[in-house]
Amino acid sequence: MWLFRKIPGPRFIPLLGVAAEIVQADPSETLSIIQKYAQLYPGILGAYLLGIPVVVLTDPDLIKTILSSKQHVDKGVLYAFFKSWISEGLITSHADKWRVRRKLLNSSFHVKILEDNVGNFWKNASYMVRCMLEKKSTPIKLKEYLSRCTLDIISETAMGVTLNSQKHQNMEYSHAINRTLENILYRGLHPYLKKEWLWGLTRRGYEFNKDVKILQKFTDKVVRERISKYNPKNEVNGNEIDEFTRGKEKKPFLDTLIELKLLHPGSWKTKDIQEEVDTMMFAGHDTSSATTAFAIWMIGLKDEIQEKVYQEQYDIFGDEIREVSTEDLNKMTYLEMVIKETLRRFPTVPMLMRTLQQDVQFEGEPLIPAEVNLIISPFLLHMDKNVFPEPHVFDPERFTPEECSKRHPFSYIPFGAGPRSCIGQKFAMYEIKIILSTVIRFCKIKSITKEEDVKLIPSVLIRPSIPLEVIIEPRLPTGGS
Ligand code: HEM
Repeated sequence: MWLFRKIPGPRFIPLLGVAAEIVQADPSETLSIIQKYAQLYPGILGAYLLGIPVVVLTDPDLIKTILSSKQHVDKGVLYAFFKSWISEGLITSHADKWRVRRKLLNSSFHVKILEDNVGNFWKNASYMVRCMLEKKSTPIKLKEYLSRCTLDIISETAMGVTLNSQKHQNMEYSHAINRTLENILYRGLHPYLKKEWLWGLTRRGYEFNKDVKILQKFTDKVVRERISKYNPKNEVNGNEIDEFTRGKEKKPFLDTLIELKLLHPGSWKTKDIQEEVDTMMFAGHDTSSATTAFAIWMIGLKDEIQEKVYQEQYDIFGDEIREVSTEDLNKMTYLEMVIKETLRRFPTVPMLMRTLQQDVQFEGEPLIPAEVNLIISPFLLHMDKNVFPEPHVFDPERFTPEECSKRHPFSYIPFGAGPRSCIGQKFAMYEIKIILSTVIRFCKIKSITKEEDVKLIPSVLIRPSIPLEVIIEPRLPTGGS
C-alpha cells in the first residue's frame, strides 16, 4: 500500500475516496468529477474507488504500454458484478480462459461474414426506416427504434435466429439491459453491497436478479432454437463436420459454438455456449444502437453536416431505391468520419479496466504495484483539449486522414486497443454505416432534443440524461438536396 501512496492523486476519505464524491453528486456530474481529477493529476493519478486503490492513466504512451501488452489482459473489479448475468463470457473471463476462447471466436467476426450479411443489415435498417416514417412527423425516441433494429441484426447475423422484435415492438430485453447496467454501476459505487446476500435483500438487488432472469430466458430461447435447427451435415462444402473441416469455413458465431460442443462435449457444455451468447447479445446490440442514436441526433442538429452526408449518399445511389453493397460502403468516407466523431464525442464505453498481474514501472513515474486496478478512459482521452481542440464541438473534419496522422494512435480508442480490444468493431462499423446510410438516403432528420439539455451519464455504457428525440420526414427523390 505504501507503494501506491507514492502515485500522485487525491488522498482524502481513504475508505471511499473519489467514489464518495461521485455517489453524493447527481449522476450527470460523474464524468465532470472524473475529468476534474484527471486534469489536476495529468498522465497518471492514484485514487481510492470503492475502498480499492485504482490508478487512472491518461497519457497515451503509458496506455499503449498496458493495452498492447499480452500480459495485462485481466479485467478490473467492476466486471465481477457482471458475472451472475454474463458469467465468464469473453468480456469478463480471466486471462487463461479468455486466450483460448478469443482465438476460437475471432474467425466468426471475419470480414467475409460481414460482407455476406450486408443484405441482412440492410433489410433490418430499411424496415426500421419504414417504421420511423409511419410516425408521420411526430417526434420519436431514437433509442427505441435502434435498440430493436440492432437486436434483430445481431440475432440474425451472429445467432442465425430471426427475432422480429421490430415487428412485435418488443423492448423487454433492451429495457432489462438498461436497468441491469445501472444497477451494476450502483453496486460498484456502494462497496457495502459487494456481499451477494446483502445485495439480494435490497430493492435494486431484487430488480437486478429479476432482470437477469429475463435476459437469460431470452438468450436461452435463442440458443435452443438454433441448436434445434442446426444440421451438422453439409456444413462444410457438403462434408460432415469434423476436427479437420472445423474453422475452414467462416460461420456465424453461434454455429461455431454449437460445433465446438459437438466436437468437444467434455469441455464445451450448453452453459459455455450460453455465457458467450449472453455476452454477445448484450455487447453486440446496445453499443451500436447507442452510437447510432447519438449520430442521427447530431446529424439532425447540424444542417451543414446533414447536407454533406446526404450529398455523399446521393452521389453513390442517385434516386435508385436499391440495396446497399460492400462497394457502396467503401465509398462512404464522409459518413465514416461522422461515425468516428460520434464515437469520440460520445464514447459508448467510457471506461476500460485492467487488473495488473505484475508490478509496472513506467520511466520517471512511481512503481505501480501488482493487483492494482487500472482505469483507462476513452472519454477522458477524447475530451483532451490539447489533442482535440474545443472538444465539445462536434466536428467530423477531425477525422480526415491528414488530421488523424497528426495524433497519437492511442489518443482515440473507442473500441479499446491491443489483444483485448473489441472483437466486434468491424461488425459495428458495418452495421452503423448501413443503418445511417439507409436513414439518410430516405429521410430528413430534425432533432428536437437540444444539445445544451443533454448531459452524459456513464451507466457502464454512456447514456444521454434525457431521451434523444427527432422528427423524421421522407426525402423525395429530387436529384439532391
Ligand atoms: C459502437 C459499437 C461498439 C463499441 C464502441 C465497442 C467498444 C468496446 C470496447 C471499448 C471494448 C473493451 C475493450 C477493452 O476492455 O480493452 C469492447 C469489448 C468487446 N466488444 Fe465491443 N464495442 C462495440 C460493438 C460491439 C459489437 C457489435 C460486438 C459484437 C458483435 C462487440 C463485442 C465485444 C466483445 C465480445 C468484447 C470483449 C472482447 C474481449 O475481451 O476479448 N462489441 N467493445
